[in-house]
Amino acid sequence: MSFYKPETVECNGEQFKVLLSQQELENRISEIGEEINRDYADKRPILIGVLNGAFIFLADLMRHISIPCEVDFYKLSSYGDEKVSSGKVQQRKDIDANITGRHVIIVEDIVDTGLSANYIMNIVNRKKPASVEWVTLLKKSEALKYHVDIKYVGFEIPTLFVLGYGLDYAQEGRNLAQIYVLDGELPEEGEKTD
Ligand code: PRP
Repeated sequence: MSFYKPETVECNGEQFKVLLSQQELENRISEIGEEINRDYADKRPILIGVLNGAFIFLADLMRHISIPCEVDFYKLSSYGDEKVSSGKVQQRKDIDANITGRHVIIVEDIVDTGLSANYIMNIVNRKKPASVEWVTLLKKSEALKYHVDIKYVGFEIPTLFVLGYGLDYAQEGRNLAQIYVLDGELPEEGEKTD
């Protein structure tokens, strides 16, 4: 199968270049899958993806999970079509599963300020699950404003606008097979950053 993975790409009139390659993503996602297999053997976890962004990561992660598991989805929106969060989370879809007494793993593409994660923790905890853990492909540590404990982190990244592999810019770019960053935001190799 061949995936869409150019070295540079234009999206909504702006140039992006590769930050994380398809191979780097595949390797790390396989490792996280193995960790979940070990940590959740006999627990039949339910993975809850946060739409839209998490759909590709969740699909690939699940294919590395070899223990019995289930899947469901929340749909939230905080960014609209902008590059920065609106600061307001809106729930657009609830889960269908009854998660009371279940081991829940919430799956995000990115945790940025932590606002969405906090919002979800509040609604999930009210349903009295046996346990709740988070897995996110990307985490912008320096942008975190709302504390959230994340057990499985794919990659810690600087506070940059990223695109691809489920992440969008005004709804475009989710189909890219790699993670991209705005050209010019990432220092070139050897470039002085201070
Ligand atoms: C993105 C992402 C997370 C959230 C992270 O969703 O998928 O859910 O923002 O940001 P935060 O930590 O500052 O809350 P977005 O609102 O862009 O919707 P989308 O997943 O449909 O693209």
